[in-house]
Amino acid sequence: MPPATPEHANTIQQHVMDTFTERFGAPPTALVRAPGRVNLIGEHTDYNDGFVLPMALDRALWIALRPRDDDQVVLHALDFDDSVQIALPVTQPEAADGGLRKGWSEYVRGVAWALHEAGLTLRGWEGVIASDVPMGAGLSSSAAIELATARAFATVSGLDWHAAQFAQIAQRAENAWVGVKSGIMDQLISAAGVAGHAVLIDCRWLTLDPVPLPPETQIVILDTATRRELVGSAYNERRAQCEAAARSFGVPALRDVTLNQFEAAADALDPVIQRRARHVITENARTLQAAAAMRTGDPVELGRLMDASHISMRDDFEISRPEMDRMVEIAQAHPASFGARMTGGGFGGCAVALVRAEAADPFSAEVAAAYTAATGLEPKIYISAAADGAELISVPTA
Ligand code: GLA
Repeated sequence: MPPATPEHANTIQQHVMDTFTERFGAPPTALVRAPGRVNLIGEHTDYNDGFVLPMALDRALWIALRPRDDDQVVLHALDFDDSVQIALPVTQPEAADGGLRKGWSEYVRGVAWALHEAGLTLRGWEGVIASDVPMGAGLSSSAAIELATARAFATVSGLDWHAAQFAQIAQRAENAWVGVKSGIMDQLISAAGVAGHAVLIDCRWLTLDPVPLPPETQIVILDTATRRELVGSAYNERRAQCEAAARSFGVPALRDVTLNQFEAAADALDPVIQRRARHVITENARTLQAAAAMRTGDPVELGRLMDASHISMRDDFEISRPEMDRMVEIAQAHPASFGARMTGGGFGGCAVALVRAEAADPFSAEVAAAYTAATGLEPKIYISAAADGAELISVPTA
């Protein structure tokens, strides 16, 4: 169970349930939630069959729902004040290469499509959706809607819930329906997060190894208030560069290249491909070291690895931006901080810092003020506990 259900989560639960009753004329029969995530380290390693170390957030997308007797999915999204009706089964073609489908309901359609493609028979349902996962911030608001949708379909259709299987189906929705060639990290941690823990995920074998956060530390998420358009295409470009690097080493994925092998061959690589590969290969090693540091409760070593990860993302993978670098420098310089780095796909969004727990509040206020002074931007700061993954909460019947 999450250590404590934050006030905002209680409010969202109540809001989706009350709105459901108003709109559909009877109370919901089920409530599902799926969390966003923050990745502590291991960035752009998942689609290279490598290692990641994310945790599920205590911020989530919630759906209050009830099955229908027909093959329609009727949904209202409170955050967009928008309703859709989707006829099952969803069988349209995949997104054309390079084409991106946009809008909240495409994640629902995509999951319905991917479940159907997986051979599962789906029932219709109606639901009300709301989320407190910040959107477009690199905290996986899209994985949250995908996994909550998958959980809702599983509930009404009587499907057994297997976290890794549904995470892969949700990833298929993201890759082939929405058109972003993302790896498995976001969907898997949203499906299988563990309260109080980050989870070391081996993205080749999909093994999950929960590791506790170091004692007396707190994860603080620092939203730079910067976003970049066309993230999907820049992301897909990075992925293609990594695949080119793996091909030049004659291996299935960069996971299979050691640092020694890389250094021996680096000079022969195109300079851009060389930098991309160096990031992935060194980041995989840092991620394993970070999990080891967490197991021994060593926040100093974990923080050092986070700092090194940021430099690698900034200089080798080239997915940072000046405002992000400022935020990370300010966070790193604060006396309460063990380390900080950009988190998520990149090009804006959030940094993550590992902070002394007793100083998390002053850290947040002081870093926010310094960032505003440096950039003129108003950041948002989230002090977040690690929560469980997607779950079904039964609704008491009156
Ligand atoms: C996005 C993707 C993930 C992962 C990260 C970068 O969040 O959805 O699969 O590749 O970027 O680590």
